[in-house]
Amino acid sequence: MTPRVVLIGLPGSGKTSSGRRLAKVLAVPFADSDDLVQTATGCTVRELFEDRGEAAFRAVEAEVIATALRDFAGVLALGGGAVTDAATRTALRASGAPLVHLRAPVRTLRTRVGDARSRPLLAEDPDARLSALALEREPFYRELATFEVDTAARTPGQVAARIAARLHERSPR
Ligand code: S3P
Repeated sequence: MTPRVVLIGLPGSGKTSSGRRLAKVLAVPFADSDDLVQTATGCTVRELFEDRGEAAFRAVEAEVIATALRDFAGVLALGGGAVTDAATRTALRASGAPLVHLRAPVRTLRTRVGDARSRPLLAEDPDARLSALALEREPFYRELATFEVDTAARTPGQVAARIAARLHERSPR
């Protein structure tokens, strides 16, 4: 079993909101790696960062994603930083699942993440942090992506419809 589709992109790109809609459209379950981390550890992402540090969070994140790539057959949304782990990038490529990069300009991401308190990496200075993360991660997203969808001017429902249409073009049933 492999995911029907994996969503990658920066925080605020719409992975969770569009992913939930897409799962409904495709009539499959939805999972978010942050929720899988929380289920595996009993801690929120913020607690993990605060109590055990980012490296510990990344290790659990890589593990739950590896498991989901083997066992989960729905729409899988990844935390924005998951692609910084080399083993995760290898597992994503090997999975054969379509990898969809959700894209939006930093100013749109910034508006969407709001006060960013639940996102430890953005808590200090969200504008500067988002710009830095975009610079660091865009190459990974681009290199991995089967295709990209611009989410800036689309509602989650429209993003989901666009992804479903692109998936259908690739393998009509
Ligand atoms: C992170 C993004 C978050 C979460 C954690 C770290 C990141 O997920 O995994 O706070 O490194 O960009 P979202 O992309 O769903 O916000």
